[in-house]
Amino acid sequence: MEPGHTALSATLVIEHIGRLLTCRLPPEGGASLGVIEDAAVVIAGRRIGAVGPQRELMPPTGWASDTPVIDARGRVVMPGFVDCHTHLCFAGDRTVEYHERLGGVSYEAIAARGGGILSTVRDTRRALRDRPEELSGLMQRRLDEMLTHGTTTAEVKSGYGLNTEAELGILRLYQQVDHAHPVDLVPTFLGAHEVAPEFHEKGEAGRARYLDLLCEETLPAVASEGLAQFCDVFCEKGVFTADESRRVLERGIELGLGAKIHCDQFNVIGGAQLAAALHAVSADHLHVTAPVEAGALAAAGTVAVGLPGVTYFLGLEDRTPWAEFHKAGVPLALATDFNPGTSMTNNLQMIASIASSRWRMPDTLILSALTREAARAVGRVGEVGTLAAGTQADVLILDCAHEGELTYHFGVNHVETVIKAGRVVVRGGQRV
Ligand code: NIG
Ligand code: FE
Repeated sequence: MEPGHTALSATLVIEHIGRLLTCRLPPEGGASLGVIEDAAVVIAGRRIGAVGPQRELMPPTGWASDTPVIDARGRVVMPGFVDCHTHLCFAGDRTVEYHERLGGVSYEAIAARGGGILSTVRDTRRALRDRPEELSGLMQRRLDEMLTHGTTTAEVKSGYGLNTEAELGILRLYQQVDHAHPVDLVPTFLGAHEVAPEFHEKGEAGRARYLDLLCEETLPAVASEGLAQFCDVFCEKGVFTADESRRVLERGIELGLGAKIHCDQFNVIGGAQLAAALHAVSADHLHVTAPVEAGALAAAGTVAVGLPGVTYFLGLEDRTPWAEFHKAGVPLALATDFNPGTSMTNNLQMIASIASSRWRMPDTLILSALTREAARAVGRVGEVGTLAAGTQADVLILDCAHEGELTYHFGVNHVETVIKAGRVVVRGGQRV
């Protein structure tokens, strides 16, 4: 957009920005955040019209008198966060389990006695059947929390239904909530989150039958209703093997869905190699991945999604080799993994804090991992996660003069204003 034209088509202007983090990939490579100082952002409808130094963008006569202008007062302005891995739709709660685990009972032991994922499946199925409006309201409240903390796009997985009706029910709820709430949702089918309880006692034959159901009935139904963009699988010892995971993901790909995978969360059983072999859009968790997998992931362009909230919440050591991945050219994203069993947070600022203090990840990497690279992990790079002419106008104004304060002053909400698709939806830290 030409500067002269700017004043005509602008619907909102943010001026006096101290540091504008465009989060664009620097043409010379490396890890900068594309910072512009003393900047302005011109929004035209739902999109960014222009970004740049204020003295270049502002017409000599000033902004048009009928254009709303927000004074950023020298603060940091950046793209809305993208939470590229969440399990937003779940009912019930696992508070007791959390405290038991602190007392020494392992996640796997709780799962083996029918707790864990399966207890959430029972609660979610019941809520879907008996009070879907309540479940939808709960999801919208969770999205409000996310939005006030800066998340403007969220990937959302099914996976607490584990039969065709309940999995479709969850994905249809996502579709409704996506229309009703400002946060943009990117739906992922995770029917292969666990073997459904109805198939457990039948042993190996039951497992095979559950996989048949997923591949021959549930996935085709999901694809034909256009309910999901990605297909995911929990590739883990005691859940799905790498071969079983391959079967599900290949079927998803055949039906037009992109591939994602939960792998190397507790044990290395070949999930990262599978992600690379299938050119999965992302490989998530990777807490115990060997750095040697970096080359294959980089060559495949698969985004490594780090989930430091999981090991923080479970009180486990985290060995995610993010530095080796970065050195090898693997794109790095971070996400909450919001779920009731392994990461009960939907706040990406909390994730930034853990990545900073526990992983010692530099701020430039953390912030690109929460924006541009997270957008890459959900196939939306260039649309969200960066600020440039033409991208969606999802913009945060932080209460910081420098982005380093976000991780330095931890445990408070630094998001003051959120603009979603050109509209102010959070002001003074409150939903409007
Ligand atoms: O991403 N890893 C598998 N799924 C979830 C945990 C689900 C649960 O415990 O309810 C995760 O960590
Ligand atoms: Fe997960």
